Amino acid sequence: MPVARSGFSILSEDFATDPYRSFGWLREQAPVHHESSIDSYFLSRHEDVTRVLTDHEAFSTEMFQVRAEPVMRGPVLAQMTGAEHTAKRKIIVRGFTGDALREQIRAIRANAAELMAPFLTRGRVDLVNDFGRPFGVNVTLDVLGLDKADWRQVAAWHSGVIEFITSLDLTPERHRHCLDCAEQLEAYLVPVIRQRRRHPGDDLISRLCTAEFDGIALSDREVTALIINVLAASTEPADKTLALLFRHLIDHPEQLAQVRQDPELLPAAIAETLRYTPPVQLIPRQAERDAVFAGVTIPAGATVFCMIGAANRDPEAFTAPDTFDIHRPDLSTARSFTAAAQHLAFGTGLHQCVGTAFARAEIETVAGMLLPLLEKVRYSPGFRYRETGLYTRGPSALSLDFTPVLDRQGL
Ligand code: HEM
Repeated sequence: MPVARSGFSILSEDFATDPYRSFGWLREQAPVHHESSIDSYFLSRHEDVTRVLTDHEAFSTEMFQVRAEPVMRGPVLAQMTGAEHTAKRKIIVRGFTGDALREQIRAIRANAAELMAPFLTRGRVDLVNDFGRPFGVNVTLDVLGLDKADWRQVAAWHSGVIEFITSLDLTPERHRHCLDCAEQLEAYLVPVIRQRRRHPGDDLISRLCTAEFDGIALSDREVTALIINVLAASTEPADKTLALLFRHLIDHPEQLAQVRQDPELLPAAIAETLRYTPPVQLIPRQAERDAVFAGVTIPAGATVFCMIGAANRDPEAFTAPDTFDIHRPDLSTARSFTAAAQHLAFGTGLHQCVGTAFARAEIETVAGMLLPLLEKVRYSPGFRYRETGLYTRGPSALSLDFTPVLDRQGL
């Protein structure tokens, strides 16, 4: 039963520790929550979130000009509309599907094998810090055609970019730090872009350099922004989803055993992970005119945050929404990675994630490799599970023990 709470705040420590505890109350008692300190509205019902993300006239992506453009160093895909948006989305989609995807799966396997090798004989790995983070960045660097030797540096700049986009209350010092990161990332990318214009390969940067919009090649600024857009959008949610998948399977040993026995169930387990604990928890929009939800008027010009975690646990949309169930009949796996997905983890509407097919292939490939290697997988003794993040959310660590692999044939 929801309990009324005076002084409830999205920015409180209590909410940060476990937002899922508050979602039922928000949906029922405060479906339009106004967070006064940041003058923003938070919507938690599946129906309302879907309305905001699909009514592109009433809710725009204007606010990305302030929330993302400064660190992307140019306009991001999410800000664009019409023919420009369609054309640029297509260039990116082509870079992540068909033959390109088959090549990328090889790179995903190679990255996973290399990163996992040192841990196999030890029988212990922190799936977030030892594996998932470097894996996510390395895979994206491969796709873009950037030098993996630079991954730590790129990951540090990338963190600054992400902090800027995802912080709800950035201090002036952190603001400066994030802009510094973005400027350094841009200075690193521009010479690469110029080199790819002279000598294109089959990587995504080359595709962006040789693509045209309205008969005109994209400028260095446009290519830079799209590269940072892909780097920022692809890395974090994928590595968080992998860790969350393992967490839920370990917490539900009977479902883990079923997936081990029948790896065909893996896509359903990934889809249910995305529904149950979406790594992207908030999607912002700007109200273009007054809009009424549950009797509350959101004024034109206001910032609206769609609460994806709350919407995905709405009992109006899913039966027993707080249960993790890879067999749930109300979540079609086939639809879960397409525009027709019932869950909202990839957003919905015009700006739905362009990387859904790639994300599925990436997580399915790596989880399919890890499951047979991590025999008798369990939490390490003394490990305390903790999640962090309001905008994007995932485990801060996932220390796992398993039966050590004595030879590396499994790789
Ligand atoms: C499990 C993994 C992923 C999740 C949960 C996820 C989630 C999302 C969400 C919620 C949005 C919508 C944002 C909005 O409406 O404003 C989005 C957009 C986007 N995603 Fe993903 N994403 C994932 C993986 C990827 C990957 C692998 C790529 C690489 C191509 C990617 C690239 C993008 C881009 C470029 C956009 C902007 C699309 C547009 O505005 O037209 N994402 N993603």
